[in-house]
Amino acid sequence: MGSLLAISLFPEQASTISTEVDHLLYFLLAVSVFFTLLIFGAIFYFAVRYRRRSDTEVPPEIHGGMALEIAWSVIPFILTMVMFGWGASVFFAMSRPPDDAIEMYAVGKQWMWKLQHMEGQREINELHIPVGRAVKLTMTSEDVIHSFYVPAFRTKADVLPGRYTTTWFQPTKPGKYHLFCAEYCGNKHSGMTGWVYVMEPTAYAAWLAGGAQQGTLAEGGQKLFQELACGNCHKPDNSGRCPSLVGLFGRTVELADGGTVKADEAYLRESIVNPTAQVVAGYQPNMPTFQGLVSEEGVLQLVEYIKSLTPPAAAGKKGPAPAGKRRNR
Ligand code: CUA
Repeated sequence: MGSLLAISLFPEQASTISTEVDHLLYFLLAVSVFFTLLIFGAIFYFAVRYRRRSDTEVPPEIHGGMALEIAWSVIPFILTMVMFGWGASVFFAMSRPPDDAIEMYAVGKQWMWKLQHMEGQREINELHIPVGRAVKLTMTSEDVIHSFYVPAFRTKADVLPGRYTTTWFQPTKPGKYHLFCAEYCGNKHSGMTGWVYVMEPTAYAAWLAGGAQQGTLAEGGQKLFQELACGNCHKPDNSGRCPSLVGLFGRTVELADGGTVKADEAYLRESIVNPTAQVVAGYQPNMPTFQGLVSEEGVLQLVEYIKSLTPPAAAGKKGPAPAGKRRNR
């Protein structure tokens, strides 16, 4: 939207959600402008029309007007409910990534963005993605709170230390778009910027193939798993001192305290950095913490490796029944 001054008021619309977000904003702006003009117009009109004309003038008494009071209660109520309903529907659309979204990981760190593709490519302050495909980002931070912000996608999501948050977007046109950090995170916060490159699918495939020699994320996780000697306790046949990790992801795990937890990314992460928080039923809390020994990127690789450990066949197995199995890749 370029004006005569060649200043663009709005960033480019480059994702499926951006038009929806803008339409909602236009509606909110229109309602605000309308009522601002109405209220200020009424103030000036009444100030002049009903001004005091003499020192002894006494105005007539007025005892309310039911129709007026209902009107100024009901109309704003309807308007705010429209804002609520419309806002909630856009919010839900933004919060729920489509099932066929490509998964990627982002780690914020003072003061850079580190991005990892499942295929193994790692980028700093750059993210290459294909046009027309939904991308789901699972994000975490190595230090303080950051916020992943791509104005052209109308995407802004906080990135928190010690927690996984997700966001998603589906770019609609190839190009190069600003990536910002939108949460003050220290001295060089303003320099924590980057670019998102939206590429044609063939160009993206070529770009992906260019870095394939590093091995996939899960393969990186497998290497780490061996280096950290996790397999000494987590034996695949459940004969070790710790539970087997095969087929764990997506399952409901019974805990020593009688509760249950779904083995999602956040649970796997916590079990690595704070293993005694949720101990599996029937096991001792004897696993050491790996906090500080593995970077958040390393944790993500381990998580991907554990996710890749599927049972060889869906044979009748002991242990808790699989609940809500969901494989991504
Ligand atoms: Cu990271 Cu501001």
